[in-house]
Amino acid sequence: MTGTYGEYPGTRPRRLRTTPAMRRLVAETRLSAAELILPAFVREGISDPVPVSSMPGVVQHTRETLRKAAVEAAEAGVGGIMLFGVPEVKDAVGSAGTDPDGILQQAIRDVVEEVGDALVVMSDLCLDENTDHGHCGVLDAHGRVDNDATLAHYAEMARVQADAGAHVVGPSGMMDGQVGVVRAALDAAGHQDVSILAYTVKYASSFFGPFREAVNSSLKGDRKTYQQDPANLRESMRELALDLAEGADMVMVKPALPYLDVLTKVAAAVDVPVAAYQVSGEYAMVEAAAANGWIDRDRTIDETLTSIRRAGANMILTYWATEVAQRL
Ligand code: PBG
Repeated sequence: MTGTYGEYPGTRPRRLRTTPAMRRLVAETRLSAAELILPAFVREGISDPVPVSSMPGVVQHTRETLRKAAVEAAEAGVGGIMLFGVPEVKDAVGSAGTDPDGILQQAIRDVVEEVGDALVVMSDLCLDENTDHGHCGVLDAHGRVDNDATLAHYAEMARVQADAGAHVVGPSGMMDGQVGVVRAALDAAGHQDVSILAYTVKYASSFFGPFREAVNSSLKGDRKTYQQDPANLRESMRELALDLAEGADMVMVKPALPYLDVLTKVAAAVDVPVAAYQVSGEYAMVEAAAANGWIDRDRTIDETLTSIRRAGANMILTYWATEVAQRL
């Protein structure tokens, strides 16, 4: 069939998609290794790494294998590492989290010693990895998470993590006032140079499911009295204003892919770096579909990360950080 159809197509956007070289030239968003942050789990009392079954390819590290993973990440050019500790003994108040020799503090010291010049070393500042009930705070007499009592524990965690050498602490418990309390505690202990990456916008998400296995959590129920309702966007802007006023150096949106609209709005509103956390469930979905041959794994990974960047993230926490950095 030949012929013309009026004036169409008068304009041809396809010209800029003709070759790989042309597409590369006109790409508006690029990934680089330096903006990737590797979340990593270290478990006390094990002699070999333990695979996390719901996150194929992710393990609970021993202190030794964590050192190796940190070196591998640094050599690949990854920008940072976010450490999570899984203590052998958990109790009602999460004592391992405030113990200067708790597993997370030991791991921070190990990683800073190993790669502290090459990687920004970050630590999760939350009680849930350390409590026997699995909540992010301590409980009151009625079993409710006690905001203000929890803040005292966070202040102590901030101090021991910074003493261990953390460059950045990441308060992730969604307690009101946590960023201000952590900043004050750091400053009082002489840690003015330790930064706060605030988990500012954190939703009560089913996408955190596999993480529970990764930290041996015994949580029953949910975190809906402190994490945000996925239905809300305006509320995120309120959390953002509070965290900035309390002294957040960087802010985070979490999870990432289901909340790109939130990420875009946050990124447009602030003048601090914005991180997005591609969480355990986002990782698991892609790995599971790829294992079934239903999607192209590497293309899907790159597409999700590119989309998170395009939406406005300066930094991305992803369990694929090292692999993607090696590929870039
Ligand atoms: C809290 C914390 C969680 C995650 C990171 N920090 C769990 C939660 O809040 O329920 C989830 C990360 C992931 O799912 O990959 N310490």
